[in-house]
Amino acid sequence: MASKFDLIVINGVIVTATDVIPCCIGIKDGKIHTLAPAFTSEEVGDARIIDAEGAYVMPGGVDAHVHLCQDLKTGPHGLGGECADNFETGSRSAAAGGTTTMITFATQTRDESDRSLIKVVEAYNARAEATGSYIDYGFHIIIVRNDEDVLKVELPALVKDWGITSCKLFMTYESQRLTDSQLLDVMLASQKNDITTMIHAENGDMIQWLTEKLEDKGMVAPYYHALSRPPIVEMEATNRAIALAGLIQNPVLFVHIGSAIAATNVRNAQTQGMPIYAETCPQYLNLTYDDLQRFHSPTCFENSKHVCSPPPPPGTSDQDELYLGLLNGTFTIFSSDHCPFRYDSPHGKLTGVLEDPSSMKDEAPCEGEALQDLVKRKPGSFRFIPNGIPGVETRLPLLFSGGLATGRITAQKFVELTSTNPAKLYGLYPKKGALMPGSDADLVIWHPQKTFKSFRLINSMLHHNVDYTPYEGKEFVNWPRYTILRGKVIWAEGELTGKAYDGEYLKRGPSYFGKGASKRPIDSRKTATWLH
Ligand code: URP
Ligand code: ZN
Ligand code: ZN
Ligand code: ZN
Repeated sequence: MASKFDLIVINGVIVTATDVIPCCIGIKDGKIHTLAPAFTSEEVGDARIIDAEGAYVMPGGVDAHVHLCQDLKTGPHGLGGECADNFETGSRSAAAGGTTTMITFATQTRDESDRSLIKVVEAYNARAEATGSYIDYGFHIIIVRNDEDVLKVELPALVKDWGITSCKLFMTYESQRLTDSQLLDVMLASQKNDITTMIHAENGDMIQWLTEKLEDKGMVAPYYHALSRPPIVEMEATNRAIALAGLIQNPVLFVHIGSAIAATNVRNAQTQGMPIYAETCPQYLNLTYDDLQRFHSPTCFENSKHVCSPPPPPGTSDQDELYLGLLNGTFTIFSSDHCPFRYDSPHGKLTGVLEDPSSMKDEAPCEGEALQDLVKRKPGSFRFIPNGIPGVETRLPLLFSGGLATGRITAQKFVELTSTNPAKLYGLYPKKGALMPGSDADLVIWHPQKTFKSFRLINSMLHHNVDYTPYEGKEFVNWPRYTILRGKVIWAEGELTGKAYDGEYLKRGPSYFGKGASKRPIDSRKTATWLH
């Protein structure tokens, strides 16, 4: 009998940001159509049935911080290094880990040819279209200059024509960082266009100064990357950026907060009613300084696999505080900061052993065995290691194992952080991040907790194009059993069932939290809201 649904999910415990309730879901034309305690046999008809067997059913993951297709020029920290994942491999990995929406970064550079943000986005979009994506995707724009004419004309066009309603600004990395006044220029322009400003908050001068001191002492192994960026570096930068944002009441999201002391700054600003939001990532809950000396010996270059910025926190007590920040609302979202560099590649982590990576053009000076020889002869320097680690596939399973299964966070909090809030913050709600009638039928269905056998991860189980995972050997107590994108099953029982062109580009709206936030002066005499 013809069903009014295409697909139904039965025997699930549905979880939203507010509720946990046994419920069936009827899906029609890619949308959630009906939520009901049960369906009659007539309603079921010939619809495809997925039996969740008592497991959690959640809105698909929304990963708002993913680096894909950034090459040597647009590389994630401007020091060389090239993303190992393109839209196809990155999105396939995301799908296998329960994520149905990702937001990646189109990146401006300081080259004159990159002045136009529209051209930057068009070129980046061509990369996405070249391979297609298994999941839906949108773009943030990274802005590294403050050209007044460009900001004035192009920001409104980005919002209107591309639905790009968020930009990322850097306070570190020589080739990307903005000065305080430049930050203010872009923040004010963003605010006028209802664009959420994402900030990478580390004090670039402190890092440079410490790096030189460490190099003078010959302390160049990957481990010293962490010592070149102690938590106070992030503490100072978040503090300063909060003050800059406060001056003009600009909504700011701090990306990848890695230290408890920076989280405290965020919390204090929130307590004052400022529109300040924060993100943390799996690496800050699961890795510590110890992981930067995990391999063989503290000086082994393989420890570069765990180099990211900010670095993992010094110890497990910092992790506990970050978990608390997830629970008490300091952190609005939980993203992967998937930044995929291969280890054994001249354009990956091993860039760090090359003489002068900044002079590298498209041709690698040495490949394969020659590169391995070089690793043996040279100590390398952390200064040249591309920053970032892969994790788009492990994001949800890590938070499930470490946060949900241990009782550190509730199931509702899990959904809020990994799906609902990123969708709200970045203008995708309630199309994404919700299980409401009319929302896209994007779901992640877990295994029934009672019958799932925990396992230890090995990199070959993952679907990215990276030759390692920072979580090799880690125990997982659950994993997504099905991932569903707009009613289509794209991952089922350990197999990819979707295709690279299933994903669609998402034009986003303004932040669901943000409207009006900039018109909410705490005390107009203390701020410069007359600028608005
Ligand atoms: O180390 C990191 N996080 N690399 C990725 C680039 C960035 O700053 O997000
Ligand atoms: Zn960053
Ligand atoms: Zn070794
Ligand atoms: Zn990043």
